[in-house]
Amino acid sequence: MSTRKKLIAGNWKMNKTAADAVTLAQELVAAVGRQPAVDVVVCPPFTALESVARTLDGSLIKLGAQNMHAEPSGAFTGEVSAPMLRALFVTHVILGHSERRQLFGETDPAVNLKTLAALKHQLRPIVCVGETLAEREAASTLKVVQAQVERGLEGVGKDHAANLVIAYEPVWAIGTGKVATSEQAQEVHAFIRGLLGKLFTDPVAQRIRILYGGSMKPANAPELLAQKDIDGGLIGGASLEARSFLDLLAAAAAS
Ligand code: 13P
Repeated sequence: MSTRKKLIAGNWKMNKTAADAVTLAQELVAAVGRQPAVDVVVCPPFTALESVARTLDGSLIKLGAQNMHAEPSGAFTGEVSAPMLRALFVTHVILGHSERRQLFGETDPAVNLKTLAALKHQLRPIVCVGETLAEREAASTLKVVQAQVERGLEGVGKDHAANLVIAYEPVWAIGTGKVATSEQAQEVHAFIRGLLGKLFTDPVAQRIRILYGGSMKPANAPELLAQKDIDGGLIGGASLEARSFLDLLAAAAAS
C-alpha cells in the first residue's frame, strides 16, 4: 500500500469566465473545503486566479496555474511569471501539457527551464508527459516518455525532486473519451517511477506523485486509481462541473 496521498487536480483549460470559475470554486469549497483525505488542486485560467484564490481562502483546496514563463520578469508580451503566480497564492503549475506542446510549440528544453524556475520559486510543477497515438502504435511509448521525463527534469536537484508531480497523459486519451486501460497506464507509471528512481534515488521516487490524465471520469477512476503507481488524476472535462469532480474526489478517497 502506497504512502503517497492521492492528488486530484482539475485542469479547467480555456473554460470559464472569472465569475463562472468562482461559482464552481464555491461549490467545491462547500463540499470538500475541509476534506483532508485527498489533496485537491484546481487550475483555472489566469484571468480567474485572483478571484478563485479569494474563494479558496481558508479551505484545503490548492490553486494551480496552467502554464508560466521561465523568466521572473521582462519583455515577454503575453506571458506570466512564477513570482506573479506566487503573489496570487498559486501553489502548483501545470507545465508541458500536450496542448501546449502540440499547439504552441513547447519543447522539452522549454519545459525544463519552466520546471527549474517553478521549483526555484517554490511552486510545485505538474510536469505532463505522454505519447501520441502514432507513437503508441509504433511501440515507442516508453522511449517517448523517457525522453520527455529525462529532458524535462534535467538539472532538478534530489532535494527538490519530491516537490515534483508528474502527469502521464496519453495524447490519444485527452478529450477523446478513450481512456487508457488500467494495465496500459500502470505500465507507463511504473516505468516513470523507475526512471525517477534512477534520476533521484528510489526513496525520492517513492514520494513523487504520478497522476494519470486522459478522459478520467467517475466511472473509470476507481480501477485506474487502484493501480499501484497511479497516485491521482489530472482531470480536464470532468473537472468543469462540481458533481463529476466531487465524485472523482470520492473515488480517490476510497482507493
Ligand atoms: P480530459 O479529462 O478532458 O480528457 O483532459 C485531460 C487533460 O488534458 C488534463 O490535463
